[in-house]
Amino acid sequence: MTWEAGADLLVVGTGVAGLTAALRAREAGLRVLVLSKDSVAAGNTGWAQGGIAVVRPDELDPGDSLHKHVEDTLTAGVGLCSPQAVRDILADGAQAIGRLRAAGAEFDAVDGALARTREGGHQAFRVIHAGGDATGAEVQRALVSAVRGGGIPVLEQHCVVELLRGEGGAIAGALAMDSESRPGVLHAPAVLLATGGLGQLYAATTNPDVSTADGVALALRAGAGAADLEFVQFHPTVLYAEGEARGRRPLVTEAVRGEGAVLLDVRGDRVMDGVHPLGDLAPRDVVSAAITRRAAETGAGHVFLDATGVPGFAERFPTVHASCREAGIDPAAEPIPVASAAHYSCGGVVSDVDGRTAVTGLYVAGEVACTGLHGANRLASNSLLEGLVVGGRAASAVAKDLGCGLLSRTSVGEVEPPAFAVVERDLLQRTMSTHAGIGRSEDGMAEACSVLDRASVVRPLRTRQAVEDASLTLTAQALLAAARLRAESRGCHRRTDFPDTDDLRWRRSTVLRLDASGW
Ligand code: SIN
Repeated sequence: MTWEAGADLLVVGTGVAGLTAALRAREAGLRVLVLSKDSVAAGNTGWAQGGIAVVRPDELDPGDSLHKHVEDTLTAGVGLCSPQAVRDILADGAQAIGRLRAAGAEFDAVDGALARTREGGHQAFRVIHAGGDATGAEVQRALVSAVRGGGIPVLEQHCVVELLRGEGGAIAGALAMDSESRPGVLHAPAVLLATGGLGQLYAATTNPDVSTADGVALALRAGAGAADLEFVQFHPTVLYAEGEARGRRPLVTEAVRGEGAVLLDVRGDRVMDGVHPLGDLAPRDVVSAAITRRAAETGAGHVFLDATGVPGFAERFPTVHASCREAGIDPAAEPIPVASAAHYSCGGVVSDVDGRTAVTGLYVAGEVACTGLHGANRLASNSLLEGLVVGGRAASAVAKDLGCGLLSRTSVGEVEPPAFAVVERDLLQRTMSTHAGIGRSEDGMAEACSVLDRASVVRPLRTRQAVEDASLTLTAQALLAAARLRAESRGCHRRTDFPDTDDLRWRRSTVLRLDASGW
């Protein structure tokens, strides 16, 4: 062991959930240490475009209410949300936004009131945004600056290899490695995983390179449960590229449809006509499935988003406009070619709305968590909100659990990096894209499992790449196990061999735990 450090709370991840937790933990008087395996702003939060869904009691839209936001979230989640978790988290939204603004985040305003747009599945204009379509970047900027300004230590280029546990299996800290891959021990009675998503399981995704499912793998190996991993949300509209799309694809925010753009197939016919009463603003799973179907029917591999009627496109959507121009498209004059790509994990590590997991001392918040807010399909723009609310609540839970003696400090000695199964990334991504995307079947998923089994090699986790590949490998196996169990189609889990929703057998979550014999 070459280095060590200690804190009351170790926060892993520097997106909206992790940084919010760090700030709140500091307010509660805790010693906090924050870790990012890359640079502090490298995660998914900074890429979020559309906004944050929130009903503000002081600025109530005529016709909107918290009740309606809850209703829309439950409808999008197709029977798998926890209604209590939905109410608890959404009810805290306005206060969380207040705190974020107090920390320095600035949102777009019209006549002194927050500007609001609409996205898929919302019956009202309740999505607030910043910089037009650069909401995540503003949230990230404000939180990083508040954390830096507050003197909270952030170790960048430091990667967690394994969670360490002491007496009774409670968390004692983490084995980590620094930028030169030197192992070190972080002592902490509480660890909050805020590691984001798993988009890098797929060849084409809206997620950056760092979204490698690390939190799910760490939590599973520490004994926590993971639920609803089969519900990977595919964003309906990323910029389409000719040939094989690989890596992070530029997002075309749903808010573009909120401002009136429509989906057309390559023949010029409306894609969403007769598909759903909300038309182009149907919930995301419905729109993604319709686009995938139509793109296959026409043989084009993509559809078009016609935003030529959206006034002032370049000013309202500067990020999308820049991506289009880079691809040689003028969205004010011609339709934008779009397709779906992996976007968001609706499932994750099982936790309550305060981030507590089944492992004493282990907390989760943000995309890595499964709190019951999203069910089978997340409602657009509920994710930043969840990160803000649950990040804050998890920090308060840690303070409370430490205060009442639930968590204990156990010292850990020398620890060797463990060895786990690893599949080469390119093969893993191709396999998951082919067999575990929109439209899966038992045959395809069985084939995917056997490809991964045959290709896996056990490696000691001595580099960040090995840690990430082990995370992707374990999470791919867990996702396939959950998706094979769920013999129905629901939300963003669409099976070609079970096209119907089976409420009688499957209106419940799939929860997986890892033990010596597998799942
Ligand atoms: C978008 O802007 O379309 C993405 C926002 C989200 O995923 O909630």
